[in-house]
Amino acid sequence: MSVEEFVKRYAVDRRNTDSVKWDATDEVFGTDNLLPLWVADADFKVSEEVTAALKKRIEHGVYGYSKTPASYYEAYCKWQSERHNIEVQRDWIRFSTGVVQSLSTLINMLTQPGDAIMILQPVYYPFMNVIKRNDRRLVTSNLKQKATSYDMDLNDIQQKIKKEHVKLFINCSPHNPIGRVWSSKELEDLLELCRQEKVLFVSDEIHHDLLVGKKPFTSALAVKNGFYRDNTVVVDSASKTFNLAALQNSHVVMPNPQFRERYDHYMERLAAPAGNIIGKIAGEAAYKNGAAWLDGMLNVVRNNYEYVKDTLHKSCPKAVVYDLEGTYLAWIDLSAVIEPEHLEYIIKKKAHLAVSFGSAFGEAGKGFIRLNLATTPANIKLATEALVEQLQH
Ligand SMILES: Cc1ncc(COP(=O)(O)O)c(C=O)c1O
Repeated sequence: MSVEEFVKRYAVDRRNTDSVKWDATDEVFGTDNLLPLWVADADFKVSEEVTAALKKRIEHGVYGYSKTPASYYEAYCKWQSERHNIEVQRDWIRFSTGVVQSLSTLINMLTQPGDAIMILQPVYYPFMNVIKRNDRRLVTSNLKQKATSYDMDLNDIQQKIKKEHVKLFINCSPHNPIGRVWSSKELEDLLELCRQEKVLFVSDEIHHDLLVGKKPFTSALAVKNGFYRDNTVVVDSASKTFNLAALQNSHVVMPNPQFRERYDHYMERLAAPAGNIIGKIAGEAAYKNGAAWLDGMLNVVRNNYEYVKDTLHKSCPKAVVYDLEGTYLAWIDLSAVIEPEHLEYIIKKKAHLAVSFGSAFGEAGKGFIRLNLATTPANIKLATEALVEQLQH
């Protein structure tokens, strides 16, 4: 589907729909009239097939206690296998209302208060919050910054794992906000290190369908033909892929039966809900029929990314737009143009943009902004022009 066709069919005005991104901007940023490019959801309505499946259920009109239909498992496993060559068996899957909630559950299930948990920074900031709020010790390794990308610093990771007695590693794959899709080799090195050091591995793969560059996605479950499965838990969801975040349905995938037993026990203790039927109906319809919609959205994201990159390159070459392999989030270094201390003021008060500021993702993100590209080219043009005006000031 062309960019124009996708935008014509699916772009909608989200103002006054209780959208966090569009309707909570004033409260969160303390300024009104900002163009919102922050929260990681998309400004596009779902595919016709998802709406039809939801309508059918709504028209039935009964919302009694529900179970996960067998067809949901089939649709998800088929999607993972056909789109990414990942084997997922039905009995490995558990459900949760969100990926961050699953991370919190896994932290409690796999570690004790005071245990060290490692992440790579800059990273999606709820990783830091969920570790600290559960009274675990946060251990960070900075990603190695290159001209327009990043690498993992395996030596640093190894040293800190040993020194801090790290028990659990939480990886972001693809990595928000830096846009990397980790290669099979990079993941193998990391997984092997964790195996040798007896560090459990949780892989947050929520962005795994959002492949913007040419690189294929490798799940931690698929590395070396599944060699690391027993040490690995994957959390993911249809929510980023098909824009379903509000429907609160996500997956925890555990090939290791001992993890599953501990997980079930922990969830029973919490009496925690396992997603909900509306989220599952939407997810199933999307896995079955959503490929064209997803490919259409990815075309829009690629188009928006190229526009931002070209425009900034021509009008302000010192602003560095990082490579985007995965996610719909552009990571832009403005530190050579705007003093990091003045960044928030200029972006909010002068450019009138609500973006995510890099410092929220860790000290290493200072001076950067993260721009959500899952919106119309018209919004991206407005935002880029507003940015350029300030950068050229
Ligand atoms: C890496 C990552 N994990 C988790 C989430 C949020 O997932 P959920 O809404 O299911 O908690 C996001 C959302 O931006 C994310 O980027």
